[in-house]
Amino acid sequence: MSEAAAVPPRARLLDCADFTDAARRVLPRDVWDFIAGGAGRERTLAANEAAFGSVRLRPRGLSAVGEPDTAIRVLGDRWGAPLGIAPLAYHELAHADGESGTAEAAGALGLPLVVSTFASQPLERIRAAAGTSTPLWLQLYCFRDQRVTDGLARRAADAGYQALVVTVDTPYMGRRLRDLRNDFRVPAHIRPANLEPDRQAPPGGATDTDSPSAHSRSAFCPDQDWTVVGRLRRLSGLPVLAKGVMTAQDTRAALSAGAAGIVVSNHGGRQLDGAPAALDALGEVVTAAEGRVPVFLDGGVRGGADAFVALALGATAVFVGRPVLYALAADGAPGVRRLLSLLCGELTDTMVFTGHRTVPSIDATAVEMPR
Ligand code: FNR
Repeated sequence: MSEAAAVPPRARLLDCADFTDAARRVLPRDVWDFIAGGAGRERTLAANEAAFGSVRLRPRGLSAVGEPDTAIRVLGDRWGAPLGIAPLAYHELAHADGESGTAEAAGALGLPLVVSTFASQPLERIRAAAGTSTPLWLQLYCFRDQRVTDGLARRAADAGYQALVVTVDTPYMGRRLRDLRNDFRVPAHIRPANLEPDRQAPPGGATDTDSPSAHSRSAFCPDQDWTVVGRLRRLSGLPVLAKGVMTAQDTRAALSAGAAGIVVSNHGGRQLDGAPAALDALGEVVTAAEGRVPVFLDGGVRGGADAFVALALGATAVFVGRPVLYALAADGAPGVRRLLSLLCGELTDTMVFTGHRTVPSIDATAVEMPR
């Protein structure tokens, strides 16, 4: 069956799950597993989505909301909605449009994109595709060779990125059994476009032609501490956020280190299997942050109502991961645009039916937690 025949017509892509099904049909099995899979027995992966299913929304009647305004301001920038795209390696694995296709779609809706260290296209090209008013943040892993991390941070500042996001949960990659069973390798024609081949791993260490897991063990720095936040801030002049915070302890560490924001995340269940759902960790982090910095969440967001729940529980905004790669696989840049419009539309509906005219008015009175 050809790809065109395998993907349903655009008008039938009406829910996040439709994009997932379409992607499952077009992607090679090992690529599907790399994207969809998690670490270990995938308990945390499953918990992320399930956590949203146990929260109930409280409908309000005749609340005269008119047309709600979904826009927010984050670190001085306007976002069209409290929804962004999480950093995801190698968008070209999903579709040749790659990160610039995703950026174009995000730009059309005024939504932010976090570009991965392992982007498959140059970060300057992604900046150009996004358009000038779209916030772009660059996600950084901490490499053993500090020059790699620092060089990317400087390059992002020069290219007009608005912030850096340090991923704090990945001293090396988690044990992803699907990838181990498939002996997954990123196809040779897809490259980490912003990394120089020789500089990521120490001499004799694994290279980026090894499995992503082997590569991360030799290239990432397992000795890194929170001082990286201040170092990157000083050398780039950009705000630095910490991604992968799940506890009050790490929230306080991030704040002491000078983080400008926190992303509650368990890396989509790809690192510590057995960690709680991101949504279940949100309250602890929000309380510990004491309103000093914005707190974001990723993990398991599969609709506008899920975004609404996270906002009600204290998140400033959410980031969406896998569904973006599924939408890209299904239909390239137009697919991502359609997915993002769908999520924004669902959020608007939820605001109308719960009686909220603006995003900041959404609070815990809008939801019922499981007893
Ligand atoms: C990721 N994630 C990730 N995180 C990060 O900080 N840097 C990265 O390069 C990547 N790459 C990556 C690739 C793929 C295929 C996936 C699925 C995930 C984690 C990502 O940013 C985010 O935390 C989760 O994907 C959010 O969960 P959902 O929305 O996928 O459930």
